[in-house]
Amino acid sequence: MSGLKILLLGKGGQVGWELQRALAPLGDVVGLDHDSTELHGDFSRPERLSETVAAVRPDIIVNAAAHTAVDKAESEPDLARAINATAPAVLARCAAETGAWLVHYSTDYVFDGSGDQPRSEDAPTGPLSVYGQTKLEGEDAIRASGCRHLILRTSWVYAARGGNFAKTMLRLAAERERLTVIDDQIGAPTGADLLADLTAQMLRTAVAQPDLDLSGTYHAVAGGQTSWHGYASFVVEQARRLGRELKVQAIDPVPTTAFPTPAKRPLNSRLATTKLQATFGLRLPPWQQGVERMLTEILG
Ligand SMILES: NC(=O)c1ccc[n+]([C@@H]2O[C@H](COP(=O)([O-])OP(=O)(O)OC[C@H]3O[C@@H](n4cnc5c(N)ncnc54)[C@H](OP(=O)(O)O)[C@@H]3O)[C@@H](O)[C@H]2O)c1
Repeated sequence: MSGLKILLLGKGGQVGWELQRALAPLGDVVGLDHDSTELHGDFSRPERLSETVAAVRPDIIVNAAAHTAVDKAESEPDLARAINATAPAVLARCAAETGAWLVHYSTDYVFDGSGDQPRSEDAPTGPLSVYGQTKLEGEDAIRASGCRHLILRTSWVYAARGGNFAKTMLRLAAERERLTVIDDQIGAPTGADLLADLTAQMLRTAVAQPDLDLSGTYHAVAGGQTSWHGYASFVVEQARRLGRELKVQAIDPVPTTAFPTPAKRPLNSRLATTKLQATFGLRLPPWQQGVERMLTEILG
């Protein structure tokens, strides 16, 4: 296991940053960003990624790069498609040719968000946005390539590093007496650290037991569910518990329609994680646990 060569793309993103830490015990990690100079890591020129794979000769390719600006993607679909669909397709083709594993992340936005039940991995897709559509095209290309892959569909990702929803809520709660937050989108806030740790655990099992066919698509989100309103309320409550003084007196729930955006978002982002938990013998902790830890880190 320790002799593995791992190529990590998008090393500076929320998940990429945590993967640098979580993958380190598995082997030799070569991490790249879009502006890396020695090796090509820019997904807007996807074909050149094959040169990088040929140079590194990885046993595992982990793709944490993506065009994640959901609203901006509506006005730059070609770039979103290059990064979210064409580049993963190139990586998948390289992985199929060399026998490498490919780890890739996808999203609840591949679904249309109807209903109120958690979706399983084989539920029908129906993206509502360019982001969701291009992410689905990336998934499909990987599955069609025949490479050994782990596609982890996740939702509402946050990290202590960089900006995030909780930090925005804390800033607004310090400035204003009333906040309005959407309460009809339901999902699970999922820590980038949890995703990175799951990735390392899943890879360890998949690589150590090649006879088990573990290649496939898995839903990977923290346990439980909430709305953005529930998430914001929890953040404010925990921040006060940690001693932060906040001006906010009320958090008013509003429907998604109160905040029109270029990209349409799914209302039901619930993802069922039974497959991942049963296949890999892993548990997904309640979402509150990771958010509480992140708040302690940023407020401590
Ligand atoms: N964030 C969420 O709420 C969420 C929800 C569901 C699924 N996901 C999925 O989870 C995965 C990780 O997301 P994340 O939250 O870590 O996203 P993130 O923080 O936005 O990171 C995305 C990474 O992609 C890189 N990137 C952007 N354009 C690139 C290009 N042309 N070439 C190479 N790299 C490029 C970014 O680098 P620069 O910043 O340097 O451009 C950044 O390092 C993605 O597949 C995403 O679709 C995310």
